[in-house]
Amino acid sequence: MEVVARYATNRVRTKECLHLKLVASVFKSDVIRFPDGFRWGAATAAHQIEGHNVNSDWWRSEAAGLLPYRSDDACDSWNRWAEDIDLLRRVGLNAYRLSIEWARIEPEPGQFDQAALDRYRRQFEGLKEAGIEPMVTLHHFTSPRWLADRGGWRNPEIGSRLANYADYVARQMSDLVQWWVTINEPSILGLKGYIEGSWPPHRPMDLRGYVRLMRHAARGHILARQALRAHRSDAMVSMAFALWPMQALRRWSPIDQAMAHVGDWLWQGRVLDRALPALDWIGVNYYSRNVVGWPWPTAPALDPAMRTDFGWEIYPQGLYDVLRRVGAYGKPVVITENGIADAADEKRAAYIVAHVRQMHRAISDGVDLRGYMHWSLLDNFEWAEGYNQRFGLATRDRVLRPSAAIYGRIARANALEKA
Ligand code: FCB
Repeated sequence: MEVVARYATNRVRTKECLHLKLVASVFKSDVIRFPDGFRWGAATAAHQIEGHNVNSDWWRSEAAGLLPYRSDDACDSWNRWAEDIDLLRRVGLNAYRLSIEWARIEPEPGQFDQAALDRYRRQFEGLKEAGIEPMVTLHHFTSPRWLADRGGWRNPEIGSRLANYADYVARQMSDLVQWWVTINEPSILGLKGYIEGSWPPHRPMDLRGYVRLMRHAARGHILARQALRAHRSDAMVSMAFALWPMQALRRWSPIDQAMAHVGDWLWQGRVLDRALPALDWIGVNYYSRNVVGWPWPTAPALDPAMRTDFGWEIYPQGLYDVLRRVGAYGKPVVITENGIADAADEKRAAYIVAHVRQMHRAISDGVDLRGYMHWSLLDNFEWAEGYNQRFGLATRDRVLRPSAAIYGRIARANALEKA
């Protein structure tokens, strides 16, 4: 196999040996083909890569010392976007999920920055020219400061504000963008911002705020979708849901089962159900599972080999479970995020291949899966973890990791091939 051969001719270091073993084991004997037109991409978010997102609530919290790290330049993608496109092309990908930054486009209420939008337009044109389809998120955790000052997600006004911003963007971008994500992971935003309080708006145990966020996110999605579809009737609009299956630690325990059930409903079921009629497809962010039981917190003891640098359990089977769950709604599904914090790049290739296998199982079992966006293209500003968790197919210096070649091979072939 070409990729393996290339490794073999490299200087053999321990890490490379390990990598070689992994590669050999994952490209076993079978050929797994994906449907024609399947989208193989990578995902990023504006605040995590662009740098100097000065009009956002996150930047303000960083500057005020309310967050442990500052994003600063991030990956400087605001200026280096053409290099990012080049990276995607070099990996061999045909799609890119990225977000546009509301705080840049509407830095003051009702005042839009045309130069910022023009900059995004050039980026989308560049993607099209490279044969890479953009999938665009309107809101990925960060909000304009002025919006946060008005109560952010707690204020019902946010729905119409989001729709107004969506309208302004779609008016000028609809020719270039068909696939949209309105809001990324409202449940994570709620958990971090309103339960833990570690993220903006820093409101620990504001349960009312959490419930309002979920309600306003569902409504905001519906209104933003209307605005997007008004400019393009075939626009495909979803949210990206954080779908970590909730599982009972002890299957025999009614308490653990009840905790898993209620947790699932609060965490993901509720917002998914509310938004469902207004989803043209379903965006799945999948990383791992939650195992719950009493007494809380509980977690199964695991071999470190089964954990990422972040401590998250590597559990590919959960992707299959989640795909079957949302696939049952009969709508197209796209994996909008899936990836691994692995600075040494020792587990990433195997992680990708194991999840690709689960995707294929789900397709064989009838799920209308249309694409896979690997998180992330670059090591980036991982929110409260700063630059310490490295999810990139490439480093911030835009050096591709060996696993990117493995992923690229799958993407180019639209298949997982024989060794
Ligand atoms: C998801 C976020 C994304 C990134 C990954 C690791 O919850 O949507 O921005 O931080 O986790």
